[in-house]
Amino acid sequence: MKRRLIFLAEEARRQRAALYAVGGCVRDWLLGRRTFDIDLAVEGDSQALARAAARLWGASLEVFDRFGTVCLRLSDGSRVDFARARAETYERPAALPRVQPASIHEDLRRRDFTLNAMARRITTDGLGDVLDPFGGRADLKAKLLRVLHPKSFEDDPTRIFRAARYAARFGLRVEEETARLIEDAVRKDTPGLLSRERIRQELLRTLEEDEPGPAMGLLKEWGLAKAIHPCFQWPKNAGQEKDPLVRLGLCALWMERGAEFVRSLKLDRAVSQALIQALGHAQEERSPVNPLPELALRILKAGLDRLPKTALESLMVNGEDIKKLGRKPGKEYSLLLGEAASAQWRGEFSTRAQALRWLKGKLACR
Ligand code: CTP
Repeated sequence: MKRRLIFLAEEARRQRAALYAVGGCVRDWLLGRRTFDIDLAVEGDSQALARAAARLWGASLEVFDRFGTVCLRLSDGSRVDFARARAETYERPAALPRVQPASIHEDLRRRDFTLNAMARRITTDGLGDVLDPFGGRADLKAKLLRVLHPKSFEDDPTRIFRAARYAARFGLRVEEETARLIEDAVRKDTPGLLSRERIRQELLRTLEEDEPGPAMGLLKEWGLAKAIHPCFQWPKNAGQEKDPLVRLGLCALWMERGAEFVRSLKLDRAVSQALIQALGHAQEERSPVNPLPELALRILKAGLDRLPKTALESLMVNGEDIKKLGRKPGKEYSLLLGEAASAQWRGEFSTRAQALRWLKGKLACR
């Protein structure tokens, strides 16, 4: 990746733009961690440079946010974002900021934590020295998480979620003044001002951590879990699953008002439906009439111990079977099929032949 970037510096020189790697990738390089996510800040026309990079690297290009950030996805799975170096102003707490072009120094000043407020100039000669105006390197060494200014969490309460992730991921201690500012923001309920979409994004990013448990623990300790949902809890076994959506499903499965929580997140429709279906079947303890979506199956298998083998398969008998046994269509059908779904869930039959025998037995008693 570094070679690719240095190659791009030639194009930046031609465009008279200054090109910097910023934020998380600089932090991860200093920590010797691999990163597949590179943020570039450009003093100049970031979109023109991104188009040139797409040609050079044969990558596809998408403009993905309201700030005009361009994202390139490379064939090796890595992602490079190009943004104009910018300053931000917040009109009110938790609102999205207004932005204007600025120098790299101002761009670093608008960021969340000292460890993310570092940059490296990319030139045709290679990567330059680390620009570190807030002492991010020293904080990394001392294992401290520190905000840049006292209004940081008020401007952007998503940074409290970010603080939990960084503290947990890198084993950092939250510096005292920063901890006090978190407390203040939570006391004033600034996270409550965030839209559900932004809460969802932070929750999903936390669930994407290799091990979300410690970050979830901090969110709870800081009183942030209630901004996710008043009943939100992190179940211990959820960390054993790797897929963030399965982890999310397990949270919903074990909490009160799980379906309301899922709906409140305004997830992608198919995901939301799969989660709601999983919760419904777990609650009603009935096998599904139609095949369950893959995601619902994975949540139920991970969440429910000792489920009979065929509990999650589609119901093995149907209305036609009842008809063939001589009953006229009517209300009895849905009652019987409901009972059959509960019986299959409990493992009272596990093959179609057994299911038909079960049905005959039921009808004989009526
Ligand atoms: N940033 C910020 N405030 C936010 C979100 C992001 O200051 N609320 C800045 C930080 O400098 C951060 C950079 O934007 O480093 C990129 O954000 P993001 O991609 O979300 O984070 P990364 O630092 O890349 O961290 P992660 O490893 O968690 O993806």
